[in-house]
Amino acid sequence: MIHPDVERVLYTEDELRSRIAELGRQITADYAGRRPMLVSVLRGSYIFMADLTRAIGLDVTVDFMVVSSYGAGTVSSGQVEIKKDLSDSIEGRDLIIVEDILDSGNTLYYLMDVLRARKPASIRICTLMDKPERRTKPITADYVGFTIPDAFIVGYGLDYDERYRNLPYVGVLRPSVYESQD
Ligand code: PRP
Repeated sequence: MIHPDVERVLYTEDELRSRIAELGRQITADYAGRRPMLVSVLRGSYIFMADLTRAIGLDVTVDFMVVSSYGAGTVSSGQVEIKKDLSDSIEGRDLIIVEDILDSGNTLYYLMDVLRARKPASIRICTLMDKPERRTKPITADYVGFTIPDAFIVGYGLDYDERYRNLPYVGVLRPSVYESQD
């Protein structure tokens, strides 16, 4: 049953599961013999993080950051705030930053600077969704689940106004939902 505010399903549960299994296999091969630290950028990535870590056959560790762009609505304002920092040191670690969506690149542009200063051995970015046509900062992901067009998507962790995160699929939100509120 599709949510009435969703115009169409972009990726079904099965499509998400099989693509994430592929990402997991790729990361497992690339980091063979190492113990990467997966850093989830909350809140949007919580579901992807849970599924991705279980698709990786390595001895990984996990940590979490809460990051927020200032401002509501459908467009990021460019300013980023760390609301909850990592719990562990990342010095000398192989970091994989896990994101649900890479859009303007503002969040990761800021975060990469903050994390690099803490001297990890390496940093790579894994994003479930990538909207390259929206990019305003020079950020490229090393692992991309899906490259998508510029539509407003929700579900599988992604929200609009904190709603729809729990939809098991990724769908395009009906424009009438945000046009009536902005
Ligand atoms: C989303 C997403 C990324 C960021 C990407 O987070 O999770 O962190 O936007 O956009 P950018 O590339 O333009 O910076 P959001 O601020 O919506 O918070 P959330 O994770 O709590 O949903």
